[in-house]
Amino acid sequence: MVSKDVARRVAFLREQVNEHNFRYYVLDEPTIPDAEYDRLLRELEGLEAQYPELVTPDSPTQRVGAEPLDAFSEIHHEVPMLSLGNAFDDGEVRDFDRRLRDRLGVDELEYACETKLDGLAVSLRYERGKLVRAATRGDGTIGEDVTQNVRTIKSVPLSLRGRGFPQVLEVRGEVFMTRDGFRALNEMQSKHGQKLFANPRNAAAGSLRQLHPRITAERPLDMFCYGTGVVEGGELPGRHSDILAGLKDWGLKVSSELVVVKGAEGCLAYYRRMAAVRHDLGYAIDGVVYKVNLIQQQQALGYRTRAPRWAVAHKFPPEEELTKVLAIDVQVGRTGALTPVARLEPVIVGGATITNATLHNEDEIKRKDVMVGDTVIVRRAGDVIPEIVQVVKERRPKSARRYRMPKRCPICNSEVVRVAGEAASRCTGGLYCAAQRMRAILHFASRRAMDIEGLGDKLVEQLVEKGYVQTVADLYGLQVEQLAGLPRMGAKSAANLVHALEKSKSTTLVRFLYALGIRDVGEATTETLAKHFGSLKALQEADVETLQQVPDVGPVVAGNISVFFRQAHNRAVLKRLLDAGIRWEDPPRVAPGQGKLSGQTFVLTGTLKSMTRDEAKKRLQTLGAKIASSVSKNTTYVVVGGDPGSKLARAEQLGVPLLKEQALLNLLKRG
Ligand code: IVH
Repeated sequence: MVSKDVARRVAFLREQVNEHNFRYYVLDEPTIPDAEYDRLLRELEGLEAQYPELVTPDSPTQRVGAEPLDAFSEIHHEVPMLSLGNAFDDGEVRDFDRRLRDRLGVDELEYACETKLDGLAVSLRYERGKLVRAATRGDGTIGEDVTQNVRTIKSVPLSLRGRGFPQVLEVRGEVFMTRDGFRALNEMQSKHGQKLFANPRNAAAGSLRQLHPRITAERPLDMFCYGTGVVEGGELPGRHSDILAGLKDWGLKVSSELVVVKGAEGCLAYYRRMAAVRHDLGYAIDGVVYKVNLIQQQQALGYRTRAPRWAVAHKFPPEEELTKVLAIDVQVGRTGALTPVARLEPVIVGGATITNATLHNEDEIKRKDVMVGDTVIVRRAGDVIPEIVQVVKERRPKSARRYRMPKRCPICNSEVVRVAGEAASRCTGGLYCAAQRMRAILHFASRRAMDIEGLGDKLVEQLVEKGYVQTVADLYGLQVEQLAGLPRMGAKSAANLVHALEKSKSTTLVRFLYALGIRDVGEATTETLAKHFGSLKALQEADVETLQQVPDVGPVVAGNISVFFRQAHNRAVLKRLLDAGIRWEDPPRVAPGQGKLSGQTFVLTGTLKSMTRDEAKKRLQTLGAKIASSVSKNTTYVVVGGDPGSKLARAEQLGVPLLKEQALLNLLKRG
């Protein structure tokens, strides 16, 4: 016999674990440390093991079912799972809105705007608040029973919270994988020598359609709910947005990006806002969905064959397309690294024409198994460099050719070597190699380095070819007459370039250090180095041990810096640069963790009146603040200038405090 006390304790623990699951997985706002949660769960597991008669199917310990299935059984959707019509531009959205207004004879419609998640649709069936079944969409009428697997998704409640839910409630939504979850999963797959998933959508679909629920349980799946199916023995509110709010109250996870707007213009404003923040969301969306918010109006509008009249998906331009690999070339970088580049049949992806995609290195070509002649999926997400996601093996022609890295540099014919343990193959030509010289010069001149306007690819190529410029120090000896003699160079552009060179001499220590192009020393590292040492001299004199005391500087980077400053030819170039008149004011030294704003993270949006955003950034950093490019819960302040971007909305959504220009100035002054 189980004592009443034990039964009560088990019920209490179950309620506690459910509550904390909800806070963690649905609200994303845990209120107890993980260790405390683990203690509660372990105690519950212990008691259930001792008193099996107390185990219930909806106990949080029962998410992972025991036995693998042979096959999924079929499920008939009483209320079909429909698809959505698409709109691809503003005009089509306005047409959609006009059509509906005409049909209903109203002047203005209220819309619920949601994100269009890129996962797979699932229907959950709750009877008396208990999850009894979960099915995929299938063809919309017949789906597959994936109950065992869906039960392992932690954000799906096994029983509904609170009260007032209908006796039978089907909830529909999208099962998906977060980008972090996807990355972690692929890392695991790669470690165990298993097949990689091409994108989060495929990973989610593959995980949900696993016959072994134990495997599904290990996959980082999540679910957002966006609607309902069968509803019996109870009523739902009269507005779509209120229905979703109700689902949320019952413990189901609903996207926090839901917004109610008026008219087509309201919808389009939402589209633009989401297009701007989509890459910061943590999960993939391929568009937004507009739904007429009043259920009565939805009913009056009704359905077409496969889609409701009252909703439309407004798609973002596709970020993935098919194209062909015409050739694979190598580019020689600043440090001699040979980067294979796929030359592609031009294709429009994410609104831009793509003709090249980097293949990074030899291993990457092997891993992706890319051959010349292959049909491939290319992706261009946001500002990210286009990449080949996957080869479409079924379309590989007989004539496809495997690629081999060259044994000799295509530019200078020096030997190519691959150091053990490194992914890159490198040209050993050093500054003898024109490509390396050219890259080093372009890097030196680039906007975030010495910012020499007008010194582009073509010109640098000519300067190197003619032998006018061997090292970056030669740049400052260039004469107007000499430059004006180059093809496609007039006296005016020549004078402009000399002027730009002169102007670049007044710089900052960070820019100058970055411009030198020391291997593995990027902008962030140069900033830390400049702050830590305060002067070029102090940095030059630092030994490897001292260098390693700088945050983020490990043995490899410390070694690179030390070697750089010890080489005679680098010292000679440095001396000539300084003799040419390059100068800066040494930055104030800030020991790590000691700035007034240390530990605080700022995000800037909009235009400031009293300074540029870069200046504001520098001044905040001088006080120890970190600057981030996107708003998250960890942001301390968002600095808001005139005409702010989507970051403002994001900050308001997350409740991150805002700082207007005057407040920023006060903060900087006090510092
Ligand atoms: S509503 C009756 N809302 O898109 C309305 N669908 O193209 C049916 N989807 O099968 C769907 N996010 O898998 C709706 N916020 C959202 C959605 C969404 C993603 C998917 C869903 C559906 C497909 C239709």
